Amino acid sequence: MRVMGIETSCDETAVAIVEAPAGNQPVGNILANVVYSQLTEHRRFGGVVPEIAARAHLERLDGLVAEALAEAKLDLADLDGIAATGGPGLIGGVLVGVMTAKALAFAHDKPFLAVNHLEGHALSVRLTEEVTFPYLLLLVSGGHCQLLTVRGPGDFVRLGTTIDDAVGECFDKTAKLLGLGFPGGPAVERAAQGGDPQRFPLPRPMWKKPGCDFSFSGLKTAVRQAVEKLPKGDSRAIADLCASFQRTVGDVLADRCANALAMAPSDTLVVAGGVAANVYLRRRLEALGPRLVAPPIKLCTDNGAMIAWAGLERLRLGHTDSLDFRPRPRWPLAPAEAHA
Ligand code: KG4
Ligand code: ZN
Repeated sequence: MRVMGIETSCDETAVAIVEAPAGNQPVGNILANVVYSQLTEHRRFGGVVPEIAARAHLERLDGLVAEALAEAKLDLADLDGIAATGGPGLIGGVLVGVMTAKALAFAHDKPFLAVNHLEGHALSVRLTEEVTFPYLLLLVSGGHCQLLTVRGPGDFVRLGTTIDDAVGECFDKTAKLLGLGFPGGPAVERAAQGGDPQRFPLPRPMWKKPGCDFSFSGLKTAVRQAVEKLPKGDSRAIADLCASFQRTVGDVLADRCANALAMAPSDTLVVAGGVAANVYLRRRLEALGPRLVAPPIKLCTDNGAMIAWAGLERLRLGHTDSLDFRPRPRWPLAPAEAHA
């Protein structure tokens, strides 16, 4: 079974083709995985500009579809389904991906699959690692910070979520305040190397509180105040602040995951989403005890392979979508009522 996945919900235009070996094994093969990152388009604005993103997706997507097929040495006729991110995300970009996937599916008489971007992150680990349902998932990206039990495709129980900002946004803001560039996560991680993680005491919102919710706005404010007092051009202080910030985030994530493991015991903790690329944070989560599984670093940030894989998992269950699917700017993985 082979599925193409199209991802256009933010600032990466991405197309991939994945294949499941015969016999319902969880692990798959990536036959093609092409990503065009719009970094240069957005860099001078210090963040993603939705209108520019939508246009860039439109200009690039056809070419990337052709490139992915060439890389996999396949024709559209060889595919079993066409998946695209159906939301949540910047609606202009999501529309471009969904329209393209629907057109390809219609023209070649293939099933169309509208994939929730968060489900893409949530299931991505099963593309490369043997992980069986159910598992505990920490989903940490630029727009989300949640703890969920993943029971199967389309079957999630939300244990906690952020009450204000996402953790990736907090990394991006810290980098911006320190002039480290965009996107911030990798820049903060690099700058933190060799820094003193104890030098700046920063607040740890929600730390040691019951439940599994997160909060990052107080930490963001504290970082801003610390940056304002920093001597200009002091690279030692920048390294120390980045290391202290990262340690603080590590303390909070580890504390919230420990609570989640107490509420919903699991022998496997999966971390996914762009922030899961952070090696220091992975180490902190590893120390919690259960087996920690994360996608390979390059599949943590947005990519087409995770959308193709989630589409494939849905297709295997017969969960296809009709061509009148409407893109969804908001699309929670689990209803708030399921909040434990
Ligand atoms: O999953 P993703 O590519 O897009 C969303 O769905 O949001 O996540 C992007 C986020 C950005 O905030 C970026 O700064 C963060 O992931 N990120 C990192 C690292 N790499 C990317 N955060 C911390 N450490 C990293 N190495
Ligand atoms: Zn994402």
